[in-house]
Amino acid sequence: MIYLDHCATTPVSRQVYAAMAPYLTEEYGNPSSKYYGQAVRAREAVECAREQVAGLIHAKPEEIVFTCGATESNNTIIKGIADYRKYYERRGDHLITSRVEHHAVLNTCRFLNGEIYSNDDDTFTLDQSHPTVDRGFSVTFLDVNAYAQVETGALEAAIRPGTTLATILWGNNEIGSLNDIVSLGAAAQKHGVFFHSDATQVLGKLPIDVRSLPVDALSFSAHKLNGPKGVGALYVRTDEFGLMPPFSSLMHGGEQENGIRGGTLCVHNIVGFGKAAELAASHLENRLERMRALDREIRGLLQSNKNIELLGDPEHHIPGIFSIVVGDTFFNNEQFLKQIGDEIAASAGSACSAGEPSHVLQAIGRGRQTGQVLRLSLGPDSKASDVEALLARLFPR
Ligand SMILES: Cc1ncc(COP(=O)(O)O)c(C=O)c1O
Repeated sequence: MIYLDHCATTPVSRQVYAAMAPYLTEEYGNPSSKYYGQAVRAREAVECAREQVAGLIHAKPEEIVFTCGATESNNTIIKGIADYRKYYERRGDHLITSRVEHHAVLNTCRFLNGEIYSNDDDTFTLDQSHPTVDRGFSVTFLDVNAYAQVETGALEAAIRPGTTLATILWGNNEIGSLNDIVSLGAAAQKHGVFFHSDATQVLGKLPIDVRSLPVDALSFSAHKLNGPKGVGALYVRTDEFGLMPPFSSLMHGGEQENGIRGGTLCVHNIVGFGKAAELAASHLENRLERMRALDREIRGLLQSNKNIELLGDPEHHIPGIFSIVVGDTFFNNEQFLKQIGDEIAASAGSACSAGEPSHVLQAIGRGRQTGQVLRLSLGPDSKASDVEALLARLFPR
């Protein structure tokens, strides 16, 4: 099997699996229990994982909140900051995001905007005739350039009195382009706007150093970097007193995660995330070098094919992610991917939006080509011959 869908998920590495296994068997203590060895060891394991995840982005351990994934991290910080700043601090009700966010951000913002109010069939279509409900927030969805990037000027122009939060994707999960997070974050912070970025596709692939990054919060998922599914993290910058800015909780419950996220901690998953982060940190430089070389080789291969067009920023992108438009207007990506599915795993866009016209392609004026697009996302063990095998199926001689 050739696996070219690393943006959707990645295999759990053997070392991660081995680190997790004891916490599914003999070490089953609840880290919130107090008095006995198993509980203490579970708590220590969670705190060790927190240090490992923090280490990968040069954060302080107390700036990491464990969640069940990037979807929850995005919901937690966007709804939490929006709610607290509007209803408690009375600072305003305006939020800014972009049209090309992952649905975990896009639909969270649409929920706050009042466009989504139920889980009926209409939920995921932007239907102008659809009634909206007033949840008290307004959201600006920024347009993007041809590479699906937000221009800093556009963000600044959208900031107004009452803007409380801006959330802009770091690395695009459909076409791989990177936003200039340094410039965008600095612009938001200059105006006192809380700046969050969904960095799910960047963690473990490119260096992240929050010490020099103008961001207030970042979201991650473990399964994108050879960790388990069902665990993620939210990074929130603390101030000089070691305090996070206040925001409303999404999960009300026990005092876990300092009351930010109630619920018994999923120790084995958290331990797996920690191990994956530790491994990612130790391999980051080598991996990046390897992925950059592979990216150059495959880009050359794809560019030399007259029947293919490559989307995304050729310079500022996550190495190893290729979004290609197949020239034939009758090409049906879903049919093709099913045909090759026993041999090659690839995607027609993001795994979470399969079957719908891609909102990312629509935003860059390529909506009509949704059926012609393939996303190939490679990992460190991928080879150029994997892509050649796909091309051979795409254009049989
Ligand atoms: C950019 C981005 N954000 C958020 C998510 C959601 O992650 P999860 O499904 O693990 O919550 C994904 C997953 O594909 C992603 O690529």
